Formats: sequence, structure tokens, C-alpha cells
Amino acid sequence: MAEQNSSRFKGGLPDYLVRHTTFRQMQIFEAIVRLGSFTRAAEELFLTQPTVSTQLKKLTDVMELPLLDQSGRQLKPTEAGEALYRAVLQIFDSLSNLDTRIAGLKGLHRGRLRLAVITTAKYFAPEILGDFWRLYPGVDISLKVANRYRIIERIQNNDDDLYILGQPPEKSLNLTAYPFAPNPLVVMASSDHPLAKESNISIERLAQEPFISREVGSGTRDAIMKLFHEKGLEPNVRMELGSNEAIKHAVVGGLGVAISSLHTLVLEGANGPLDVLDVEGFPIERKWYLAHNNDKELSPIAQAFLEFARATEPVISERMLNLYNQFALRHERACAKSKSD
Ligand code: PGA
Repeated sequence: MAEQNSSRFKGGLPDYLVRHTTFRQMQIFEAIVRLGSFTRAAEELFLTQPTVSTQLKKLTDVMELPLLDQSGRQLKPTEAGEALYRAVLQIFDSLSNLDTRIAGLKGLHRGRLRLAVITTAKYFAPEILGDFWRLYPGVDISLKVANRYRIIERIQNNDDDLYILGQPPEKSLNLTAYPFAPNPLVVMASSDHPLAKESNISIERLAQEPFISREVGSGTRDAIMKLFHEKGLEPNVRMELGSNEAIKHAVVGGLGVAISSLHTLVLEGANGPLDVLDVEGFPIERKWYLAHNNDKELSPIAQAFLEFARATEPVISERMLNLYNQFALRHERACAKSKSD
């Protein structure tokens, strides 16, 4: 136990805390409180659960008060735990600002870029990162891919430098967001689906088809449900899947139709086993948004990436237009062939 006597302050600092606590313990404590679980904290920090428990015990011993309350089903900080949690957040915020300043002093050739993107942005974000990294090979890049729900959690925890979102962020998230490239939503079906040869299919007709949907928490799913609900319709959901690739395979397997970003078809193009249906009101025109937290000073490398990514807009727009035109051409040919048969 740390000694607590009149000499506990040295150089204006509480000596018992400086000598007996570590940033690592604070990091573990912060993760436990934020995630409400020892197991999830251990997973996030790549530690074993006994290590997490031991470090928490050491921190509790130094504070001489319980920090967590495990009564009931929820793990919550005690009053002392709350006070420590707030202090830890302030310390981490200062460290993060320090990191930004140091990276700035080192210039653009060193440092770290933390980017978190919404699931569907994985079809183009790594490519932009690759081009950027060729310009700045000394930069460490971390890319997190998660659905809208998880990205919002990361924004609230201030985990990353920049985010790519599929819709403008809510005001409460305190972000500056730049719209930067098209994200059209299209209706996909397997190329031998009977609707592939029809034109101007109504939404009412589409609502009758077995539908494969993304999981709760997906931004794409929210946009689709909004569309159906505005028309007073409900899609005929046969299956929910948490991955765009799994959805594409299910569509090819004839399990139903799906609505996805056209970006998900970029690698196979219009010659693959998936077709884009001609449905009224589609494609739904959406945009990607590059965003950063207003309270966080952007590091020079994050600023450089923001500008670099925004400058890729014409390339991405053209790619989407070309791809859409290829599907439209394929559709025209299929319709002409079915008439002549
Ligand atoms: P999602 O979001 O990958 O979570 O579906 C993408 C989007 O909002 O377009």
C-alpha cells in the first residue's frame, strides 16, 4: 500500500500516485469503465483477463477505495472510480495533444494516422491509403472498419484522427464533415433472376421479393428501411447478414435480392454473377463524408490525408459512373435479347 503522509506531495504532484500508478493501469481502468466489462477490456488491449484484474487491484490498492461496483448485472464505477475516470480522460487527452505536437515537430514523414471507416467504405479507403502511403512511407497507418453504430462509439471515445461515414453526422457528435464522393445504393439480384430483364420495377413489386438485409447498426440498412417506410412499405426480409460480401454470395445463391452500395461491386464489375436491377427511384444518391472531431487538433499527417482523400473525389465519381453505365448497358442488352427470343 502506498504511504500516505505529509510528504505525499512532491514538486506539486501527489507523490503516491506518481510512484505507484502507471499509464498502463489507467488505460486498463479506462477500458473497463468504458466497455463495462473486464473481458472486453482484456480483448481490446490484447491482455489476459488475470492481467487486467491484477492491474486493477494494484490501482485500487493505491487509491485505498473501491473503484468499481459489481453489484447487480452492471459493472459501474464507484464515486472514487468516477473521479479517477474523469482524471484519466483528461490525462489521456493531454497525452494525445502532446503526441500530435511531437508528430508535428517531426514533420510529415513520421507519425501515425488513425482512420476508422464505415463497413462499406472498405471498398475504396484502403486504396486511397495505399496511394497516400506511397507518398509518405514512414507513416504508421491504422485502419478500423466497423458499422455505423460502432463508428459512432469510436467517435464518442475520440479514438481516431479521421472517419469516413456514409451519411452526415448528427450535430451532437461535434464533427466537421466534408462530403467527398458518391455512394450510390443499387438493387442487386443474381443475373438469372427474372427481374433482371424487367425495366422500371416499382418499389411495391420489389417489396414482395425475398430480401437480404444488413445487420442492425448498419447505415445502409437505415437508409433502405427509411426508403421503404416513406412509401408505407416493409421489405420482405428473409435473412440478415453482417457483411456485404456474405450478402453478395447469398444473392448469387438465389436467396433473395439486396440493396447495397455500388462500391461493393467494384472488383467484379458488370461481368460477374450479380446484376443491378432497374428499380424506380434507384440508384439512391448518397455521399461519403470525411470527418474529424472539432475538439481535436489534426496532426499534420491527418491534415495531409484529409486533403489527399478529398482530392480523390473525381476519380471515385468517375469510377462509379462508369460502373453504373456498364450495368445499364448490360440491362439494355438483356432486355433486347429477351424481346427477340
Ligand atoms: P454501413 O454504412 O457499412 O454501416 O452499412 C455505410 C453507409 O452508411 O453507407
